Parts: sequence; C-alpha cells; structure tokens
Amino acid sequence: MVKRHKDTVAAQAAGAFDAASGGVVPAIQPATTFKRGPDYALLNGEYSYARYHNQAGVAAERILAELEGAADALLFPSGMAAIAAVFRSIPNGGAAIIQSGIYHGTSKWIRDFCARRDVDLREVDASDAALLEQACGAGRADVVLVETPSNPWLKLVDIAAASRAAKTAGAVLLVDSTAATPILQQPLALGADLVMHSSTKAINGHSDVMSGVLATGAETPLWGAIRTERDDGGTIIGPFEAWLLIRGMRTLPLRIERMCDNAMQIAGFLQDHPRVEAVLYPGLPGFAGHELAAAQMSGGFGYLMSFLVQGGRAEALRVAGRLQLFLRATSLGGVESLVEHRQTIEPDTGIPENLLRISIGIENVGDLIDDLGQALGQ
Ligand SMILES: Cc1ncc(COP(=O)(O)O)c(C=O)c1O
Repeated sequence: MVKRHKDTVAAQAAGAFDAASGGVVPAIQPATTFKRGPDYALLNGEYSYARYHNQAGVAAERILAELEGAADALLFPSGMAAIAAVFRSIPNGGAAIIQSGIYHGTSKWIRDFCARRDVDLREVDASDAALLEQACGAGRADVVLVETPSNPWLKLVDIAAASRAAKTAGAVLLVDSTAATPILQQPLALGADLVMHSSTKAINGHSDVMSGVLATGAETPLWGAIRTERDDGGTIIGPFEAWLLIRGMRTLPLRIERMCDNAMQIAGFLQDHPRVEAVLYPGLPGFAGHELAAAQMSGGFGYLMSFLVQGGRAEALRVAGRLQLFLRATSLGGVESLVEHRQTIEPDTGIPENLLRISIGIENVGDLIDDLGQALGQ
C-alpha cells in the first residue's frame, strides 16, 4: 500500500466518501432513527438511533485517529465536553493533578467538579518537570492533565517526562494539544495515554463548528467507560457539525503550514518592536520553552502567541482597538486572525493587564504586520 502522510490523509478525508452514490465526499445523514424490516432486523445493523453515533461523526473520528496516530478517537460537542468526559471517569474521592495557568475555562470547570465530587485536586506549574514529578510523588492520582503549548502563556510541558511522572502516581496522562493540532505534535507517541483537542479551533479552522475530540493510544477499560458514558449520556456531535469538521480538516495541514509561517514572521516583528515589552511564542530562540518545543513539535511552533505592550491596560486596549485586520474576538485557530485582551476575559487569574493574545490566520503576512505596526505606532 502506498504510504500516506498526514496531508494526504487529511485531503482525502481518510478515504471517506458516499458509498450509496459514489460521491467523493461523504453525505450528511440527519436521521435520528433508522428503519427495521418486516423481520424487525435493522436495515443497516450499524445504525439504530442517532444518539450513539452518526455516519459523518464516525468518518470524522477516523480521520482524527489517523492524524493523531491513535487506536481510536471520539468526538464531543465541545472541547470542554471532551475534558469533562475524562474527569467524570474519576471516582468520587479520587485525585487529579492539573497544570496551573492553562485555559481558564478548563481550570474553572475542573475546580468546580472536583469540589462537588470530593476529588482531591493539585495544581502545579507542569512546565517545570521537577514540580510535576514532585506533585505526582506526593500521592496517587487518577488523571494528570497538561496543556502544551498553554493558553495564553505558551508554556511548554515535556510530555515524555509528564508521562513518566503520571505513572508514578498511577494516573493516566491527558494532554490538551489544541494549540499544536495533530499536525505539529503527537502526544501519544511521547507517552500520553489520552490526547484532547478543542476541534472548535484549528482542526475545524473556520470558526463555525463547536466540537472536541479525545484520542487514545490503546483500547483500555477507561476508554470503554468514556465511550459508554458518551453514548449513554448523549454527548455526541451532530451530523452537520461533523460534516463541516471533515470539510475543514481537508485543508488542516495546509492551513497550519501557512499559520505557522505567518506566526514566525509576526513574532520576529513584534520582538524587534520598541513598543513591545515581551513576546511569548515557542518559535523564538530566546523563549523559555523553545528548545523543548523544537524537540517535541515538528513542522512549526503553532499559530498562537501573546505579547506584552509597553505600558499598562490602557495602552494594550488602545493597540487592540486600533487593529483593522485582526478581529477583536475570543477563540483561536481560525483562518482569520484574532486579538484578545485576555485580562478583560479572566480578570482574576494573574494575566498581565498589558497582555494581548493573538491567533494568527492565513491572511497575507505583510498585511498583518502592517496592521500590527500601525496599531502599535511605528
Ligand atoms: C486550550 C483549550 N482547551 C480547551 C478549550 C475548550 O474548548 P471548547 O471551547 O471547544 O469547549 C479551549 C477553548 O478556548 C482552549 O483554548
């Protein structure tokens, strides 16, 4: 069989097509229920009721599993639903360790959940491998969650070291790889048990689908429990969203290549700008996580970065307000570039008041640099 690289897998949707018509793209089947014959046997034994799965969802999961190098993948209606599915597998009275300073929605939900369910929660700066090792050595845990690169600090976590640490606590390692996508980073190959993405972001890439994905390195009892909970609890992705996701993923490798190229040039421009205090981007050689990023990511350093504007809140907001091409909106990973004053969104989590987070799209990089230049004031 001819070898298929990720760009081939994505462009050809891992072979998904409409077997009924021969159409080169899969059909959308919106039915919630499926017919039985006079003998009461299902006409198609795979489908009975759409809460368990749908064709487009299954096709999208196959693409994701292949891109991730996973034994299996499961889609959820949001990234948070995917994270919640793993944490709901923790028994009452269990324990979890999570990285501090990650996407605030994740920290917030996990803190609330652990308090409600009497789960012991330890939060640690996992970008320091020794601190994570220490936290794992302090007592057993069910799940260790790290996010690399992290949002919005762009901290890097050594996934292989995190995997070893998690094992000492008897925990599974879950890696949120949203800012890297399956194109730039393969956590399962580095020892992670589970990988998660908010596929709302770059995997879909067009800011028009909410979804999340979990992928596993092996069919384990935990994976079976997560699947059962998803199907019986009814947190599946709808066929329209799954179909859009398939369509978006066809260009994922191409988009990521362009976004990473653009991001690298923009990071260089910002780093040299007199009105910028600091740039947080794993691709910059002086950045704390650069060497680790170079070792554990490949093909680029991602599309997400933050920078600190000289001055305070007013100066940062003035720069954001002057931008003409970067859209002032939350989220990341779309074809269009976005800017966010992160402290406005999460005021109490220690985000500097002069930090702007930008998600780099596929626009002309010269235009984006000109926009940042005019907004900062040359
Ligand atoms: C790193 C990261 N993980 C998880 C999520 C949650 O994903 P969703 O918004 O699809 O629920 C986000 C959303 O911004 C994120 O940035």
